[in-house]
Amino acid sequence: MPFITLEGIDGAGKSTHLAWLAEQLRARGDEVVVTREPGGTPLGEALRGLLLSEPMHIETEALLMFAARREHLDRVILPALSRGAYVISDRFTDASFAYQCGGRGIDEDKLRVLEDWVQDGLQPDLTLLFDVEVAIASQRLAGNGNLDRFEQEKNDFFERVRAQYLRRAQQYPARFRIINGARSVEQIRDELAAILNLL
Ligand code: ADP
Ligand code: TYD
Repeated sequence: MPFITLEGIDGAGKSTHLAWLAEQLRARGDEVVVTREPGGTPLGEALRGLLLSEPMHIETEALLMFAARREHLDRVILPALSRGAYVISDRFTDASFAYQCGGRGIDEDKLRVLEDWVQDGLQPDLTLLFDVEVAIASQRLAGNGNLDRFEQEKNDFFERVRAQYLRRAQQYPARFRIINGARSVEQIRDELAAILNLL
């Protein structure tokens, strides 16, 4: 069963579509596990709390993202996939390449080592990249009260994150679908429904 990941800069619209996507698949009678990164397990959620609030070295940040991911794979993702369930994760390793490499400037080779170590070859079957201009995403986030450590970053940080996501989509065209997130929720749902019909 497919492993589906949702990606995009903060405010791109991932969370808005997550539950709806799960409902569509459940309506077909499939088991769907909805999860998120960083997080998805008790340890991962504790690490998420630290990652979103505590100042830290950029490599500590990258290592903690992959530590949480190791636990997430072991306890949630791999068991679900092996019993035939769909897994929909709000972010996965593309976020590490986009934020820690694109945003923070960590060398990609360092992350590739962690990726091989932690994932042992596993990749998502489908990655939905919600792509919007940074100005639109930050306008959407402005409505939210408390901004976390990432959401407080400046626009140029998110420009680099967005560019890195788009580069990855070009690099791995077989699994990426770029969703123009600037459209209405209904228009985006229509496109998502068409993509799901192909699964
Ligand atoms: P993400 O999970 O990618 O950070 P969210 O789904 O939480 O983004 O969306 C951020 C904000 O933008 C929310 O307030 C949401 O209601 C709003 N939003 C999401 N998608 C759209 C859209 N297509 N058009 C207008 N507003 C949107
Ligand atoms: P998330 O809650 O999905 O963000 P939002 O819903 O606000 O879009 O993710 C929390 C933050 O963690 C987000 O700003 C991106 C960041 N992140 C990384 O920097 N690297 C990673 O590997 C992951 C999974 C997330």
